Amino acid sequence: MTQRYLVTGGAGYVGSVVAAHLLERGHRVTVLDDLSTGFAEAVPEGAEFVEGRIQDAARWLDGSYDGVLHFAAFSQVGESVVRPEKYWENNVGGTMALLAAMRAAGVRKLVFSSTAATYGEPEAVPIPETAPTTPTSPYGASKLAVDHMIGGECAAHGLAAVSLRYFNVAGAYGALGERHEPESHLIPLVLQVALGRREAISVYGEDYPTPDGTCVRDYIHVADLAEAHLLALDAMTGGAATGAPATETSAAGAAVPAGEHLICNLGNGNGFSVREVVETVRKVTGHPVPEITAPRRAGDPAVLVASADAARERLGWTPSRPDLADVVADAWAFARRTATRDEEGRA
Ligand SMILES: NC(=O)c1ccc[n+]([C@@H]2O[C@H](COP(=O)([O-])OP(=O)(O)OC[C@H]3O[C@@H](n4cnc5c(N)ncnc54)[C@H](O)[C@@H]3O)[C@@H](O)[C@H]2O)c1
Repeated sequence: MTQRYLVTGGAGYVGSVVAAHLLERGHRVTVLDDLSTGFAEAVPEGAEFVEGRIQDAARWLDGSYDGVLHFAAFSQVGESVVRPEKYWENNVGGTMALLAAMRAAGVRKLVFSSTAATYGEPEAVPIPETAPTTPTSPYGASKLAVDHMIGGECAAHGLAAVSLRYFNVAGAYGALGERHEPESHLIPLVLQVALGRREAISVYGEDYPTPDGTCVRDYIHVADLAEAHLLALDAMTGGAATGAPATETSAAGAAVPAGEHLICNLGNGNGFSVREVVETVRKVTGHPVPEITAPRRAGDPAVLVASADAARERLGWTPSRPDLADVVADAWAFARRTATRDEEGRA
């Protein structure tokens, strides 16, 4: 059944890929994005685009929407340390306004982009959702505050919500890929070296208690991540988002009913070290990638790997692209496409 969804932050990396998946399933999509870090051309064809802030969501949201997928946020960890107020205002204040608009309009389903940064330095890996949440940055703290806010909204006002705690999102979906400015994510940074746009990649710390001494992270393909969002909507609606028949659940007896806030990690459960990522980029691109060894960065845990058991059990999610080489190959195709377009734009 066709549903209508508001996608906040749908001009950004993850939001645009999820919006494209929703459209492919035949849903109606409105993207609300202020283009603060996103790009109008990333809004997928077929989506309605409203340029505006989530802080003003009440202007656009009405009862014709079946749910909201909420990606809009600032997400630079380092910036959040020096400008915490920017993160509280946008991530927390913006979400408060969005939740109020949803309550007023009677829109009672929400999928939220949470993050592994809510956990901070883990006591044990793989990290389950029951792990202590002790974020080490204002960014992680702002996302954790939103998770708490959503929990209260579910309990008090009958919202059904799924918070998806992403680990390291990577890869691309055709013409939709990662474009953060400044870029802080490892794979696009290493690809910039392969493209000749950056001289070398800095490897921060070689003395971690890991097999090769560099940090280990869990990379999840953005298309696998998008599938999890559709399954989260299914869990709240009883099969509508993926078009699957509502045999086991119905809107009335959904797996995530009104009043529940489900929190699920999204990762592959496999860790790759910084050095393995750099080596994979060399293999996939055929380009040399010079490295510079730099000191450890404060607040970088040695290993961050997800336990995604809850997503498997509650949402029926299985990542289908766990191979790092596939993730890098898709990101490389996107990086080359973007570089060619930039060069043509300058010519
Ligand atoms: N990329 C990752 O690895 C990762 C990991 C964990 C969590 N997340 C979360 O996923 C979400 C999407 O991340 P991304 O990598 O696509 O980031 P992004 O910066 O590419 O996308 C965010 C989008 O939100 C928009 N936006 C920001 N504030 C807004 C506001 N007040 N009103 C309207 N639009 C606003 C931006 O213009 C941008 O298009 C974020 O909430 C982020 O915290 C991302």
